Amino acid sequence: MSRRTIVAMPGDGIGAVVLEAAIKVLDKAGFQADYVHADIGWEYWKNEGNPLPERTINALREHKIGLFGAITSKPKDAAAAELASHLQGQGLVYSSPIVGMRQLFDLDICIRPCKTYKGNPLNFIRRGVGNTIEEPEVDVVIFRQNTEGLYCGVEWSNPPEEVYRAFLTHKTFKKNYGSVPKEDLSISSRIFTKKYTERILRAAFDYARKNHYKSVTVCEKPNVIRETSGMMYKMAQEMQKADYQEIELWNTNIDAQMMWLTKNPENYGVIVAGNMFGDIVSDGFAGLIGGLGFACSANLGEEVAVFEPTHGSAPKYADYPVSIVNPIAMIESACMMLNHIGEKEIALRIEQAIKEVILEGKVLTYDMLKMKGSPDVIAQGASSTMQMAEAIIEKL
Ligand code: NAI
Ligand code: MG
Repeated sequence: MSRRTIVAMPGDGIGAVVLEAAIKVLDKAGFQADYVHADIGWEYWKNEGNPLPERTINALREHKIGLFGAITSKPKDAAAAELASHLQGQGLVYSSPIVGMRQLFDLDICIRPCKTYKGNPLNFIRRGVGNTIEEPEVDVVIFRQNTEGLYCGVEWSNPPEEVYRAFLTHKTFKKNYGSVPKEDLSISSRIFTKKYTERILRAAFDYARKNHYKSVTVCEKPNVIRETSGMMYKMAQEMQKADYQEIELWNTNIDAQMMWLTKNPENYGVIVAGNMFGDIVSDGFAGLIGGLGFACSANLGEEVAVFEPTHGSAPKYADYPVSIVNPIAMIESACMMLNHIGEKEIALRIEQAIKEVILEGKVLTYDMLKMKGSPDVIAQGASSTMQMAEAIIEKL
């Protein structure tokens, strides 16, 4: 095994402590790597006017693989107000560095696995026949298009005249909005391209084949959003027929899917969706397997890949003398990185260790004990972030 270089981006708040915990686990599992620290997040916005500095972009360009904790984002006005005085009044506009990173490196394929760990006290349960209690085993992997759709950033309030005039050429727009003053209009576009729709669909089908999932579900809304959702579903049908006949293609609407989530989550395998519905459905499934402390993700491009928990920087827990947050989502994200770069054996051992710790049920972070987060939870029996990491290390 050759030594790897990984770009380590702690970011803000709890990002640093969960990343530290994950790197500790990686080290003890025998992963040979050097970690190049890279700056990202709120501090760099405030002090440099750029939350994703050029040096961080260069580090990713050079080393290709990143581990990312979390960042803090604030609305436009709040962000401008927190800029250092020498940067005020220069017209700097804050935008999220993680969204920026996805777009800059074309990290168009987002993978979010949601799998039940046996013994996790946060597992979803439901009532079955004859008042029995059932704990369905969830094993779902969501493929979210990461760069387009409703998050593409093509939007206007009070659109420019030429945009407004272009919209007026659309029959439905003219009929329903033709008499609304321009100043009263906000428009966000939902753009899908064939290229990126094809890439996310193929990634989903390939993954299903390789990992023996029997179905791929397109979770969109083609009956209403006919053009974008419609295109994705039609392309999925053609692709399945041409190249993946052994895999079933299912089609669900995002609204119905959120209802079925709790009725029959065990029936789904791979789910693929556009940017926003992928974001929504992955949070929905994450709720069934323990929530943010367990939700990991990969952002994959052709060249660069960044792995991160889906949770944010949880600023209210950032400055505790002993960190209480659950590092498992970050550690699982690190396992996704190992699998991506071909270190499958180490990934498997870490995953096995996490399974054993959870099944044993002796080491539980505050979220797993359903406590309200506070510095007192440790005294009340919750394990700290580092105690959880140590427990996983002990099982390796
Ligand atoms: P959040 O994910 O940071 O926290 C929400 C709640 O989830 C927390 O209060 C905590 O109770 C729980 N939680 C989060 N991570 C946990 C963990 N590892 N273990 C146990 N419990 C955990 O979301 P919130 O509070 O809405 O946003 C805080 C900041 O994070 C904002 O500035 C937001 O913009 C940013 N954010 C960044 C993301 C990223 O870096 N990818 C994603 C989501 C939010
Ligand atoms: Mg989200």
